[in-house]
Amino acid sequence: MIDNILTIKSVETLVNSLDPEVKNFVEYGNVMNAIDMDENDLKPYCHWRKEFYTRNLIERTKAYELIVLCWDVGQYSPIHNHEGQDCWMYIAKGQMEEVQYKIESEENDNCVLKETNETIFAKGQVAYIHDGIGLHIIKNSGKEPAITIHLYANPINFCNVYDLEKGKINKRKLTYFSEKGELTSNS
Ligand SMILES: [Fe+2]
Repeated sequence: MIDNILTIKSVETLVNSLDPEVKNFVEYGNVMNAIDMDENDLKPYCHWRKEFYTRNLIERTKAYELIVLCWDVGQYSPIHNHEGQDCWMYIAKGQMEEVQYKIESEENDNCVLKETNETIFAKGQVAYIHDGIGLHIIKNSGKEPAITIHLYANPINFCNVYDLEKGKINKRKLTYFSEKGELTSNS
């Protein structure tokens, strides 16, 4: 149990603040809301590519995974779900836009989505999503590269991605561009 969280200013403090064994929804949320970090605190985990945003693992346990995502200007995720897990996103640099969707109808791998909500998150803000809230797409809508810290609890190995125009659902395997500062074979 973490008492009296003030401000979390380093990756080491962040990892030490999260229970590695059991997800505690309130505690995890409090920890994510206590982060005050920027690009300088995350350097070993920051990699940008022109072609795609990168997912860089800080720490993974049976209860959670903690990932740094690096977004070049205009880069965006597909519309996706979160496999029933909780996801918090802290904006460490830049500005991110989230558009939420709900599934109006779904049959096999076909679906109809409806846009429900649109929010801009600035540096220092924390977003939260769960499948009960909806699906979403995340985009770097700012004028500079962006960095986000994501906490997934429990870890997610696959998610569904949704093609809005074709109305199709596909399963996607999630990989890391780097793990604990080292590039992986996916990079
Ligand atoms: Fe997400």
